[in-house]
Amino acid sequence: LSDVDRSEREIVEQFQSARRDQRLVVLEGFHALKHAARFGADLVDVVTRDADSAARLAQEHAPDLAPRLADAEVVASEVFARLSPRPHPTGVVAIARRPSPRAVLAEIWPEPVVVLEDPRRPENLGAVVRVAAAAGAAGVVALGGVDPWHPAAVRGAAGLQFALPVASVASLADLLGADPSAPAGLLVAFDPSGEPLVPGAIPPGALLAFGTERRGLSGALLARADRRLAIPMREGVSSLNLATAVAVALYAWRLEAR
Ligand SMILES: C[S@@+](CC[C@H](N)C(=O)[O-])C[C@H]1O[C@@H](n2cnc3c(N)ncnc32)[C@H](O)[C@@H]1O
Repeated sequence: LSDVDRSEREIVEQFQSARRDQRLVVLEGFHALKHAARFGADLVDVVTRDADSAARLAQEHAPDLAPRLADAEVVASEVFARLSPRPHPTGVVAIARRPSPRAVLAEIWPEPVVVLEDPRRPENLGAVVRVAAAAGAAGVVALGGVDPWHPAAVRGAAGLQFALPVASVASLADLLGADPSAPAGLLVAFDPSGEPLVPGAIPPGALLAFGTERRGLSGALLARADRRLAIPMREGVSSLNLATAVAVALYAWRLEAR
């Protein structure tokens, strides 16, 4: 191997090892990098396969990021293709340090906390983080062990895990009972069997719980909930997509609260 080949191999290994490192996160695509940087991410490495195109993206969407992208390491397309399972069309990929975990339930916030029970698809979890960041939720907690920093979730969220606290907790009991002194708002279960969602139905500081993609909320969570709310749907439609349901709930709260 020549020096150049060696350094390319090192870049590939660095990205492979970053994917396995719980302290780091791989940011696939320009927009994930833009959001991460905008919300204070500590960037470890930025790589592009096309410096001119990266500079244009920065000029158009994030001039604040232009100096960092001007410093990006430029690699050949074949090397770039090996840095992520689905190389991003924007031709940008980066590594950042994950922020230290922030306690989502350290206090009752005026804003709701989104609780996802056992989400199965990281892309859905990412879409939920994205809308939670946009709507101004206090945080997102995933129950059941799924990692909100999974690369597909970070890609689905366009890097907005950096914009609000995200956490993974084993179970509802762990979330509500880990620290008995930890405050928690009312637990509101979103389920098609609930009372219709109407203006003012979401109290301040509520925990808004949503079920898994195929089976919905568990009996245990529904039994524990203080309130069940259903998003009205036309007859014949059985449910909304998970992230869509979260978006409706959060914007019902946001439009009411402002
Ligand atoms: C794809 S749905 C699950 C579908 C599942 N078969 C069911 O009937 O609950 C994922 C989650 O989105 C939320 N959801 C979807 N449509 C809803 C609606 N119309 N009202 C309230 N929540 C809804 C619920 O939390 C649900 O568990």
